[in-house]
Amino acid sequence: MSDSIGIVILAAGKGTRLKIETPKPLCPVMGKTLVDYVLNELNNFAQRKILDCVFDVVVGHSKDQVQSHISNTHPELNLNFSWQKEQLGTGHALQTYFDNNKKARDQEYTLVVCADTPLIQSSDYERLYDEMKSKKSDAIVASFITEKPFGYGRIVHSSGGLSIVEEKDASSEQKCIKEVNSALYLFRTEHITKHIYSLDNKNKSNELYLTDLFKPEYSVSNLLFENEKSFIGVNNLVQLAECEQELMKRKIESLQLSGVRFLNPMTVYLEQSVEVMAGAVIYPSVTLLGKTKIGAGTILESGVFIKDSQVGKKNIIKAHSYFEGVVVDSNTQIGPMARLREGTEISSGCKIGNFVETKKAKLAKGSKVSHLSYVGDAEIGEETNIGCGFITCNYDGTKKHKTIIGKNSFIGSDCQVVAPINIGDEAYVGSGSTITDDIPSGAFAIARSRQTTKENMAKKFIKK
Ligand code: UD1
Ligand code: MG
Repeated sequence: MSDSIGIVILAAGKGTRLKIETPKPLCPVMGKTLVDYVLNELNNFAQRKILDCVFDVVVGHSKDQVQSHISNTHPELNLNFSWQKEQLGTGHALQTYFDNNKKARDQEYTLVVCADTPLIQSSDYERLYDEMKSKKSDAIVASFITEKPFGYGRIVHSSGGLSIVEEKDASSEQKCIKEVNSALYLFRTEHITKHIYSLDNKNKSNELYLTDLFKPEYSVSNLLFENEKSFIGVNNLVQLAECEQELMKRKIESLQLSGVRFLNPMTVYLEQSVEVMAGAVIYPSVTLLGKTKIGAGTILESGVFIKDSQVGKKNIIKAHSYFEGVVVDSNTQIGPMARLREGTEISSGCKIGNFVETKKAKLAKGSKVSHLSYVGDAEIGEETNIGCGFITCNYDGTKKHKTIIGKNSFIGSDCQVVAPINIGDEAYVGSGSTITDDIPSGAFAIARSRQTTKENMAKKFIKK
């Protein structure tokens, strides 16, 4: 039979030091929240070790918001929530769990994790668990060595045993200790129930410290981890940036190993949900967000920003193009500086040039809009060429109207089409036209005033 283990995630604190409005567990990192990372890795750990688990999140500050986010994003975990009405410290948070969760005491082990350490991986939990199984300790704290120990509890080894001293309570000598508390602990549950109700708040923060469950007279130990970066605790925006950098490095490395080339990976920003296929090439300063997928062999030049879009194979997206809610098939060249808005669908072999804006525009195979145009609420047929400076006049001040242009048509430069309008196949529109009436297939249309030329008259206007 597998061991029973209570897994408690402490997430009741406000996160005051972050100085942002969002409650700390919901602080966004690469399109997910801090607590999502923690829950995902804990789930992996529980699955891999096939443990009989009780999952509990201690909530407090912005309780409803935190609880509803977690319930919605992690339905697989069958989570309980314990409500810590007043945040009197991490020790008090753990008391709250034991007061609220009827199954808490029945679990042989209790794993305590904070919601603000998102980089810990299931392999780290496994190592801690294996250490517990091979040791006699009642409690093991995961420790690491850092050159920046400020803010962390210090691991104090003395001849009598081990204790944890918080930054605020540490002597100047203790502050020099570089081995710190990661706030990940595995306990024999009995050790907690024996001592948790006798914690006091006689310390500089007037809080009940969970770290006081580690004292020289107890049978407690530490497990030193070398992968320091996995234990960054996010208390302020500097640590948040460090943590995000590490997560980004992990994401990019896994893409690199799968065959995606990054010309300067340090400058790229990707959200976790983004997929990039092998053979894609990503230039510096590219941003990819949301449900974005980039196909094999596609090149994204510098400064490209893509959100919630599907970009297929072998496309070239030139510098500083901006996509949101777009579908692009294959073998198409877009940009530089093109803006493709929601509902744009580009088939294969098209060309969208510089300073082109599209919205709810469907371009069939091989069609081209090469320069300085607005194409909104439109359908453009196969192999149709749209000249420079084309505008779909789709909005009459109240409603949006549709433009339909057939296949193999040619629209000259500097034309406006006033929607609703229908232009057939193999139609030809002369440059500088404002088209207000439908054009049937095969027709030529021109709508501009005739030129008047008066010889020798220029001098009247050119004053020396
Ligand atoms: C804590 C540890 C410190 C460790 C550091 C590692 C204590 C006393 N200190 O400090 O030794 O080096 O983590 O990152 O534990 N929380 C509650 N209820 C409360 C207070 C906090 O649920 O009443 C939760 C917070 O939401 C957070 C976690 O506990 O997720 C840790 O609290 P935080 O204030 O971040 O503690 P640190 O100062 O980082
Ligand atoms: Mg913290």
